[in-house]
Amino acid sequence: MVSEMTSGTGGAPGIKPPWHYAAEESDLKEETLHLVELEGKGIVLIKEEGQIYAFSNTCPHARCPLDRGTLEAHVLMCICHGRRFDIRTGECLNDRLELKKVEWKLEGGKIGVKIEE
Ligand code: FES
Repeated sequence: MVSEMTSGTGGAPGIKPPWHYAAEESDLKEETLHLVELEGKGIVLIKEEGQIYAFSNTCPHARCPLDRGTLEAHVLMCICHGRRFDIRTGECLNDRLELKKVEWKLEGGKIGVKIEE
């Protein structure tokens, strides 16, 4: 597991508000927690087995940053108290918590994420 961070830049063709350009799909490494900061919000992007996932970077347990956690075999473990989340569903494997999913889309190799107010 490795964590990387980039700041999103304004826009890209086909990605207009409320969508925001987040990253090049080709820049996402497999099994890496990739943090992007957009509109003051942290979003963690993950690519695993070719599938892309996007979540708020805030752990639903006590708001720790998820990008500092670890990722292995579809399971993201929060660094603070060890809650484990299945990234395929967002569900917590320890209790009834759930990761906050972020809508994303792919346009010409660019990942756009939808930022809600
Ligand atoms: S803040 Fe993530 S497990 Fe407690």
